[in-house]
Amino acid sequence: MAKFVVLLGPPGAGKGTQAEIIAEKLAIPHISSGDLFRENLKNETELGKKAKGFMDAGKLVPDEITISMVAERLSRTDCNQGAILDGFPRTPYQAHELDIILAEKGNTICCVPYIMVSDQDLLERLTGRWTCKAAGHIYHAKFNPPKDPGICDIDGSSLYQRDDDKKETIEKRLAVFHEQTAPLIAYYREKNLLVEVDGTQPIEQVTTALLKTVTSVA
Ligand code: AP5
Ligand code: MG
Repeated sequence: MAKFVVLLGPPGAGKGTQAEIIAEKLAIPHISSGDLFRENLKNETELGKKAKGFMDAGKLVPDEITISMVAERLSRTDCNQGAILDGFPRTPYQAHELDIILAEKGNTICCVPYIMVSDQDLLERLTGRWTCKAAGHIYHAKFNPPKDPGICDIDGSSLYQRDDDKKETIEKRLAVFHEQTAPLIAYYREKNLLVEVDGTQPIEQVTTALLKTVTSVA
């Protein structure tokens, strides 16, 4: 049966870090709405141009742009066995639409791990994050440094700091999370899908907790 996992958590909780590892272990794609937007920005597409202002301001990109972009990604055949969703859904409306998109192919969400980290820790994580230009591999100057500073261990490309990882933008993103995305915690708890995971543990321990959750559900 196809496995669709929604990773929920504030900016910097470790969604991207964990999704990459878990997706590889389960051999299903990692779908990050943020990465899809950044790919569009890099390729200077119309969608990327529309999204840029919202992302730079730390705001959510409007639902109509975001939902159709993710729906198109989910329609590809590599998602037939499921996917790890990272950063989508982010509003109750997106969550509702995701249920509809999945139901069209007889699928449902199997679980929603909520990676919990305090706002204070998140600021340190995001200001120290370095991302690889070629494929988005994620590092941290202190918590997960690359072997050679500024160079990706995996593909040798150079590392950069995201435009939205400036202190003021991070604060805005955190506020948006608490206002617009946090209602999803109750939404998925009511559906009996939410599993709280302590995101303050080291990366490997968070992975272990997530894999236990994801493999224990049908
Ligand atoms: P997006 O790219 O999704 O950003 P985000 O949700 O703000 O999350 P981040 O990618 O910043 O954090 P993460 O949880 O992936 O953490 P990471 O693993 O990198 O979205 C960007 C923007 O796009 C949004 O602001 C919005 O404008 C738009 N957008 C995206 N989706 C949207 C949607 N659905 N609707 C509308 N708009 C949307 O880890 C962070 C750092 O911590 C790294 O340096 C990492 O090495 C380190 N780290 C990770 N785990 C640990 C650990 N356990 N201990 C110590 N350090 C750790
Ligand atoms: Mg991410």
